[in-house]
Amino acid sequence: MKKLKGRDLLGTADLNAEETLSLLELARKLKNQELVIQCNKVLGLLFYKASTRTRVSFSVAMYQLGGQVIDLNPSLTQVGRGEPIEDTARVLDRYLDILAIRTFAQADLQTFANYAQIPIINALTDLEHPCQILADLLTVQECFGSLAGKTLTYLGDGNNMANSLLLGGALTGLNIRVAAPQGYEPDPDIVQRAQKIAAGKSEIVVTQDPIAAVEGAQVVYTDVWASMGQEDSADQRIPIFKPYQVNQQLINHADPQAIILHCLPAHRGEEITNEAIESERSRVWDQAENRMHAQKALLASLLGWE
Ligand code: CP
Ligand code: NVA
Repeated sequence: MKKLKGRDLLGTADLNAEETLSLLELARKLKNQELVIQCNKVLGLLFYKASTRTRVSFSVAMYQLGGQVIDLNPSLTQVGRGEPIEDTARVLDRYLDILAIRTFAQADLQTFANYAQIPIINALTDLEHPCQILADLLTVQECFGSLAGKTLTYLGDGNNMANSLLLGGALTGLNIRVAAPQGYEPDPDIVQRAQKIAAGKSEIVVTQDPIAAVEGAQVVYTDVWASMGQEDSADQRIPIFKPYQVNQQLINHADPQAIILHCLPAHRGEEITNEAIESERSRVWDQAENRMHAQKALLASLLGWE
């Protein structure tokens, strides 16, 4: 997609509705092998947090595009010893064609983007996880044929996943309901932004009531109760989040055809039961696979494939 050449993806709404749907269409074609794209470029991965899916799916996607990948483990590079982001960004810019970063503060990601000309991709921050959302939307599309008018209910912590789902749903006409305990709601600025984008197109709801939120939903989605960096509060969160667990009782309130999604890694017995994640409604493995197809489309587009 020519329009995306050279752009960054720092947040889900850096893409407009048309760009998001075009990217999903490109991902679908790549997945079905209707199209083969070759671009001989170099992707850097700079991850300050652990990752299985994002690291491997980005790497395989880039290899399948005929490109190469450098893993810039912060503990092995100078940025992990305090070299300023501003300097690191300007240097990496001279070597790499594109850079995916997983970090804590969105502001650090923004600093990389301000100092590097190459496309910078948000591979997860505390605020957002836009690459995951592309895969999630692709999965919902595959299961139901379209996004508009369907309802996805997210249960649990109002974290990076909740934030990005709100924006991704708003852009594509997918209704999003977030059920989170008091004090753990999604970012209020993002909720407001999602409501503005969704106005007249889809429904954006934030509630504390898990049962009302799941009523009739086509997609039941959850994520860990304590994200990376919140390990110290994990035990204290368990009783607070218990009513939001995705289990059979809760799923009984959803649409009879409802699917279950989870960005993974999952903590069975906490945010989701083993029965639910292993059930015939679960699409979590297709969802994980779709990370690769969606990110291949993203890489090709930001690198200027035409
Ligand atoms: N869903 C996801 O981003 O997984 P990883 O943390 O393994 O990359
Ligand atoms: N909310 C989780 C998502 C992991 C993919 C985290 O940030 O740890």
